[in-house]
Amino acid sequence: MLKKGELYYPDKDFQKKAWINNKKIYQQAEKDPVKFWEKLAGELFWFKKWQKGFLHNPPYFQWFVGGKINITENIFRHLSDKPALIWEPEPVNEEPKILTYQELFKSVNQLANALKILGVKKGDGVGIYLPMIPEAVISMLACCRIGAVHTVVFSAFSPSALRVRLQDTKAKVLITADGYFRRGQVINLKQNADEGIKETNIEKVIVVKRTGNEITWDNQKDLWWEELLQKQSQECQAEQMDSEDAMFILYTSGSTGQPKGIVHACGGYAVQAYWTGKWIFDFHQDDIFWCTSDQGWITGHTYTIYSPLLNGITTLMFEGAPDFPTPDRWAQIIEKRKVSIFYTAPTAIRMFEKYGAHHIEKYKFESLRLLGSVGEPIDTAAWLWYSKNIGKEKCPIVDTWWQTETGAILLSSLPGIGPFKPAFTGLPFPGIKVDILDKQGKAVSEGEEGRLVILPPFCPSLLRGVYKNPEKYLKTYWSQYGNKVYFTSDSALKDKNGLIRIVGRLDDVIKIAGHRVTTGEMEAAVNLHPEITECAVIGIPDEIKGEVPVIFIVTWSKKPLDKIKEEVVGWIKKEIGPIALPKEIYSVNDLPKTRSGKIMRRILRKLVTQAAAKGEKEDLSSLPSGEDLGDLSTLANPQSVDDIKNMINQ
Ligand code: WT7
Repeated sequence: MLKKGELYYPDKDFQKKAWINNKKIYQQAEKDPVKFWEKLAGELFWFKKWQKGFLHNPPYFQWFVGGKINITENIFRHLSDKPALIWEPEPVNEEPKILTYQELFKSVNQLANALKILGVKKGDGVGIYLPMIPEAVISMLACCRIGAVHTVVFSAFSPSALRVRLQDTKAKVLITADGYFRRGQVINLKQNADEGIKETNIEKVIVVKRTGNEITWDNQKDLWWEELLQKQSQECQAEQMDSEDAMFILYTSGSTGQPKGIVHACGGYAVQAYWTGKWIFDFHQDDIFWCTSDQGWITGHTYTIYSPLLNGITTLMFEGAPDFPTPDRWAQIIEKRKVSIFYTAPTAIRMFEKYGAHHIEKYKFESLRLLGSVGEPIDTAAWLWYSKNIGKEKCPIVDTWWQTETGAILLSSLPGIGPFKPAFTGLPFPGIKVDILDKQGKAVSEGEEGRLVILPPFCPSLLRGVYKNPEKYLKTYWSQYGNKVYFTSDSALKDKNGLIRIVGRLDDVIKIAGHRVTTGEMEAAVNLHPEITECAVIGIPDEIKGEVPVIFIVTWSKKPLDKIKEEVVGWIKKEIGPIALPKEIYSVNDLPKTRSGKIMRRILRKLVTQAAAKGEKEDLSSLPSGEDLGDLSTLANPQSVDDIKNMINQ
């Protein structure tokens, strides 16, 4: 029986076959992390070997300096008829697609040649705004082949979100599709793309035919993928990239509505993507790996695409939602495709759990041998459910901690060693040094919560900058404890075995179903409403999604409240996309503020969570405001707190 707080270990058989099953690796790596990473890097193919492993010039650093590499040359070391990609479409009656390494290689080269003809050169930005289809993989790899810097934009992001990213990167080419399926509906993606490229430098739009819906066409700009590729040669030389050249830029939420372009470098990213997959997911040649993340997120970049392909295994890509058209769609796919490693987010696990175990009783999941979790803390209940109902108590669970900024996993137990402890992510990957510090920079003691930081030499795949914004880079990551310590923005604690538990974010990031959104960017979107004077967004706990946003608005509008709320939702959809939809919107007269005018979101969060805990309609006026809500004496307008209490209580 599985129990809370216990430590689990892999069984003998798993241990025996695992790449890493001896703890000594940690000590070996610790002795000289740079040398350790250099040894790992040596197993990739380099056109030219690096001269220096690690170069530190705080807050900047470089890895494998002087080395020349191309990630696609490393992927296509595995040229064969083995499936690189298995693609399952959303409609159940549509044919899946399987692309072998050989086939993938040809298409990548064709698109790479086409991009060149369109004038894309090494270092140029290319936008990719595609659903979960094989063309997304081909597009990303084609960019890498010629040294173009891809920026993938999640297909459910709004045209405005696409526009700011394209404006920032100055991309001249965008790759998109006519449409995509979402829960049986066709979404007109081309229309969003057309809207999003307004006021950008986009000259050419390559359009994949996916859904066949009607779209508007501009003969000057638009090109059909199919027609364009047909004419191209299936051979294309790989560009020799400097280890430190930018490989891609992926945007993550900024606090003001302006997203941060996280820059990743060719050499370090390839090395860490390769090795974390090999050791944490224990990739072996016959594995079928399913990472459920869309390529629009870093998890999709690294573990749906680059890491499994660098390791020469088969990756599975599923176009749809895991519970469509039936709650057990994901389970059907695991069985049908004999998935051996399954990597998903706690929000998905909680959703499967909510549907009820009877939905999956008939599945034995015999092919599965390892499970993974990512994106937010996995609570003990979800961990145990995952282990019992999907892992059938035979699969180790690796809870992997990392960030868009780290590019690849940094913390996780190694599956051939363990231990696995529910709600704990595990140890730093060999060669990575972290610490948990208090505000003053002193290491906290065992069991105490503090701030998670990464110490030199960091890791090869850590971000190299925030695109065109060095101040932001310095301020966000390298200023809390000086410019030699990377601040993660997460709070964490360590148990007596050194296992790390991630508690949550310390900044204004909320994780909605594992997706990263800042309250600041949501506030910026809401404030665009002409009749809203101010607003505050908070994240509150949610049973399935982990966290959901709640919005407080102050408005002078005389329109009915429902109408205003609808408009607020409209602004969120327009500026960000449907992932950030609020659970609740409250219209209030005033927001609690300090005398210096700072909105006290902490108080709002407490009010809402207390109300939820007490049951929706219960009277809150009996709450002893002073103590429970923290110190209210610094508020400029304490009356606002009572008003809001009454409002939530209505
Ligand atoms: C933030 C980064 C890393 C890929 C997906 C998210 C949270 C991530 C875990 C985990 C607890 C986690 C952290 C982190 N997070 N993985 N295993 N346990 N929290 O990337 O969107 O950049 O978000 O996600 O708060 O800082 P991201």
